[in-house]
Amino acid sequence: MARKICFINYKGGVGKTSLVVNTASCLARLGRRVLLCDFDTQSNTSIWLMRLERWNKLNAGGQGSVYSFFEPGGVRLEDLIVRDVVADKNGAPVLPGLDLLPTTFNLVDLENEYAGDPKKPAYLVFQEQMAELAGYYDYVIFDCPPNLLRASQCGVFSANEIYVPANPDALSLIGFTLLVEKLGRFHQLSAGFRNASMGPAAQVHGIIFNSIKTGTDIEVPKMRMQLRLNQFKAAKRAAAHARIFDTQIRDAMVVRRAVTLGLPVNLIGQENTDPAHDSVVSDYRRLAGELEAHAA
Ligand SMILES: Nc1ncnc2c1ncn2[C@@H]1O[C@H](COP(=O)(O)OP(=O)(O)OP(=O)(O)O)[C@@H](O)[C@H]1O
Ligand SMILES: [Mg+2]
Repeated sequence: MARKICFINYKGGVGKTSLVVNTASCLARLGRRVLLCDFDTQSNTSIWLMRLERWNKLNAGGQGSVYSFFEPGGVRLEDLIVRDVVADKNGAPVLPGLDLLPTTFNLVDLENEYAGDPKKPAYLVFQEQMAELAGYYDYVIFDCPPNLLRASQCGVFSANEIYVPANPDALSLIGFTLLVEKLGRFHQLSAGFRNASMGPAAQVHGIIFNSIKTGTDIEVPKMRMQLRLNQFKAAKRAAAHARIFDTQIRDAMVVRRAVTLGLPVNLIGQENTDPAHDSVVSDYRRLAGELEAHAA
């Protein structure tokens, strides 16, 4: 059964998508079967991995992405999955084992136009089918927007673990604090829909510092984050074994460039021009290893 994991912080731009894509790619390279679910209407993960031309067609059609699942007509989740999503320019798969549940801009309608059934909220509808799929994967990883609106709720309700990407700044700490508050409320609201087979409601299991510039001392922001995490653990509002990950991801130009190349950084070959490429790839590999070892 897959580990179901959300990457989320109420602070935007901290590196959720970059961590999700690059860590998932390292896990797939280790032979794990990974499903990435893009729950951000910005569609960054989908555009990155499908590349713009292929994703544009999906977006223009308005069908075949995660929102279709919620529309009347009974599209099944498994029919929306793009298998072995990373492909070369001829469409041949280059990273077997990494699948994508893509999104398009119409996901925003889940917030605005989706009527749904109050007795069966969107997150429950999603969780039920995700549970059927999860047996096939080692990891299901959700890339969430920086909020807990309906789309994120689907990820959080399905997941059992949450990881919080953070930059070494005050706003990331505020984003983390807000996330834990909103999570508490969402879990209360959704408790009536949970049952034992779903496993525990997702709490924060780890914090991952990202985009750290060489030579920057992050001890003070790290200490502040640790104090806040300790408070949440003491109040049982974060998982008992939650911790700041030893691995932190350095700031490297190639991470920004990887989106244009349509590749996770560990698959970038000759196109690489960043001297920090190998080091940041080894950061992501270490992170994948630490995540594997940090099972609940
Ligand atoms: N380690 C890194 N080194 C350099 N740039 C990075 C790194 N991680 C992320 N970035 C860049 O920072 C920006 C924000 O990253 P990303 O899109 O992953 O954040 P996000 O948290 O998913 O944002 P959003 O809240 O909009 O979804 C992007 O331009 C990305 O390329
Ligand atoms: Mg993102």
